[in-house]
Amino acid sequence: MIGRRKKIGVVGGGNVGASCALDCAQRELGDVVMLDIVPDMPQGKCLDMFQSAPIGRFDAKLTGANDPASLEGCDVVVVTSGMPRKPGMSRDDLLTKNAEIIGSVSENIKKHCPDAIVIMVANPLDVMCWHLHKKTGLKKQRVIGMAGVLDSSRMAAFVAMELDVSIKDINAMVLGGHGDTMVPLSRFTTVSGIPITELIAKDRIEAINQRTRQGGAEIVALLKQGSAYYAPGSAAALMAESIVKDQKRVLPCCALLEGEYGIKDNWVGVPCKLGQNGIEKIIELKLTDAEATELKKSSEAVRGTIDALKKLL
Ligand code: NAI
Ligand code: 2OP
Repeated sequence: MIGRRKKIGVVGGGNVGASCALDCAQRELGDVVMLDIVPDMPQGKCLDMFQSAPIGRFDAKLTGANDPASLEGCDVVVVTSGMPRKPGMSRDDLLTKNAEIIGSVSENIKKHCPDAIVIMVANPLDVMCWHLHKKTGLKKQRVIGMAGVLDSSRMAAFVAMELDVSIKDINAMVLGGHGDTMVPLSRFTTVSGIPITELIAKDRIEAINQRTRQGGAEIVALLKQGSAYYAPGSAAALMAESIVKDQKRVLPCCALLEGEYGIKDNWVGVPCKLGQNGIEKIIELKLTDAEATELKKSSEAVRGTIDALKKLL
């Protein structure tokens, strides 16, 4: 029997949502429904995107919607509904507003597609994973945060700029929370398998690490309004692809840790195997003492924001 086409829901049809929806369609992951509260806007964007299909030659329906019932039957839901950062605003400033939005999106997921795997994008990322997981009661393997793929991609881009080599040969690894305490791991960042520690001087690596940590803020400052969306949208689409095609790719994702890396009951970015069941394995790297200390520090920063949200709820 030929299986049905997969269905990908994208909640929030703003900058990241629309860029993710188009990337999912171009990768032919399945049919895409994009949901937003703004009347007609998701319908208009999806019609425009679908009209690019004859040019891009991809088979995927793109449907815009305002009714949460349109999420019915989704295999994967990418949650991008949330306010983006404005210049000078930290990710944590978004806390209360985005928690409200994610609370209502969680209700919709529970009601209309309780079997979906959810990729969270809204900020503060790690905290919103905690919030949606609590609100939906989904299994922990089915709630996955997108941050590490983006942060690693930024680091890879900076390595390519530094060495003037093909981006295709670079694999970067950034762990931890999606904030200033994220942990770029130069030992696990390679060019054709060669760790960058053998190719780039220490002070230049530290400059790349710092630019990676500030990667989101750099773009916010340049755009003047809104935050990054091309790379974030593609990063979420890449994760959706690994799930719907059961590729079992190993990607850094925000996951609920229950003892891994010595961290208990917290949402932190770590390498995960992503397949049809969501997070199928968390891979524990042997970290040096310094790396492990940085990861713990990042985890504590996430915990602090979760505690702050708990007080507000
Ligand atoms: P945007 O403002 O362009 O889009 C957000 C959309 O969500 C708006 O169209 C809004 O109408 C919609 N929305 C609000 N409440 C909704 C609800 N209840 N149901 C459905 N739609 C709803 O913002 P943008 O740039 O797309 O960013 C979205 C979120 O993603 C922000 O929180 C941003 O900080 C975060 N982000 C996270 C990244 C990461 O690495 N995890 C990277 C980039 C952005
Ligand atoms: C970023 O890193 C704003 O979190 C978003 O671009």
